Amino acid sequence: MPARPRAKGEPGLRIAIIGGGYVGLVSGACFAEFGVEVGVVEADAAKLDALRAGRIPIYEPGLDKLIADNVAAGRLRFEGAMAPALHGAAAVFIAVGTPARRGDGHADLTYVDQAAEQVARALTAPAVVVTKSTVPVGTGRRIAAILRRVRPDLDCDVASNPEFLREGSAINDFMRPDRVVIGTESQRAREVLRQLYRPLYLIEAPIVFTGLETAELIKYASNSFLAMKITFANEMADLCESLGADVHDVARCIGLDGRIGRKFLHPGPGYGGSCLPKDTLALTRIAADAGARARLIETVVAVNEARKAGMGARIIAAAGGEVRGLAIALLGLTFKPATDDMRESPAIPIAQHLVQAGARLRAYDPAGMEQARPLLPASVEYCRDALHAASGADVLVIATEWNEFRALAPARIRQAMRGRIVVDLRNIYDPQAMREAGFAYHGIGRAATLPHG
Ligand SMILES: NC(=O)c1ccc[n+]([C@@H]2O[C@H](COP(=O)([O-])OP(=O)(O)OC[C@H]3O[C@@H](n4cnc5c(N)ncnc54)[C@H](O)[C@@H]3O)[C@@H](O)[C@H]2O)c1
Repeated sequence: MPARPRAKGEPGLRIAIIGGGYVGLVSGACFAEFGVEVGVVEADAAKLDALRAGRIPIYEPGLDKLIADNVAAGRLRFEGAMAPALHGAAAVFIAVGTPARRGDGHADLTYVDQAAEQVARALTAPAVVVTKSTVPVGTGRRIAAILRRVRPDLDCDVASNPEFLREGSAINDFMRPDRVVIGTESQRAREVLRQLYRPLYLIEAPIVFTGLETAELIKYASNSFLAMKITFANEMADLCESLGADVHDVARCIGLDGRIGRKFLHPGPGYGGSCLPKDTLALTRIAADAGARARLIETVVAVNEARKAGMGARIIAAAGGEVRGLAIALLGLTFKPATDDMRESPAIPIAQHLVQAGARLRAYDPAGMEQARPLLPASVEYCRDALHAASGADVLVIATEWNEFRALAPARIRQAMRGRIVVDLRNIYDPQAMREAGFAYHGIGRAATLPHG
């Protein structure tokens, strides 16, 4: 369990959170842990039933216990309707999804608009309406307009409080954030949010107050920068393969420069997930609409798309140019470890490409198989563990770097497999050890392990 701030927030403070997904559940549970009374509103009846029955519909380490403790303490409730959650709430956080809109890549604000309308109708007293969802610049003012239109009788404030948590370490990220960003023009909103985040003041987390538009942009700028860093590492990996250099040494040594930093320089099959793909795309649309094209990020988006689409061909090349009739073990399906989130996972185009090329896929993921089923081709066979997936396989592909795959003994994989080709898209194995174990090992951006080398 991550270390948590010990100090409690203001007693008696009540808030509502609209949306019980990754962000809503984690922030709701963490605010409750701060001592605040939290009502989480979830529109999906199946999710709501699960939550009320004590089942957590997402995989996030530590979240089940945090929720159970705070429900038991009477600080956290789940509601299907707005009214009971909004009653007495000083702040209402909107934490619904903002997926990429089909066709043009703009953030789809349907859920945000709906939530804002529903909140406005259900409020019985003024409250601060806060967007935690990642929303395009201008959305805070759009919500203020909705509130004024639907409830001209209520004097509500709006604020933007973008969320930076990462799936897999979400609780610690919320409890010990690098920074908290609060964008608002209202003194009252500032005070309510200051009170809510008081426990983080006490551990000296930087809490930065900005204007609305600035806070909204910070989230997109932050995710776009991270996506750019990953894409840079991927491009360097390709270059290393062509030049006979090792991308790990390149990444480590450039990362040791404090101006660059070591994180997010791991090469792989391209970034996925519920945030980076849609947020980079949305930033390019926001910038184009504002007449200030973000050409760097436009390129990042295009390079990453091409990379994800090209991974199937890389695996086929490593297999000798033909996979028809071959059994391929695909280890890891989620977009990163320690989550069950399959959104935009690189494993999706990989599986599609390999199945189209005639391969038989034996897949395994520690947490994501249920979410994967509707997204992967129907012929994929789901296995009970990594060695089961490897048994009889001609090729083994590592698509997500779950720790349990790192711990697999090469000799046991070798015994289980029929073939000896390993394509490690996350560079979790030591190339030398794998070669010594008898594998034809192909990593990313490491000269000695070129797919064709
Ligand atoms: N997932 C992350 O790691 C992460 C991190 C930072 C920011 N964000 C941003 O936070 C937002 C939410 O992301 P998420 O991953 O939690 O989404 P999600 O899809 O997991 O959850 C959203 C939830 O909101 C519910 N919902 C939608 N409309 C509702 C309404 N009117 N009333 C009640 N419930 C409603 C949905 O049923 C769903 O359960 C997005 O804008 C995302 O970009 C996500």
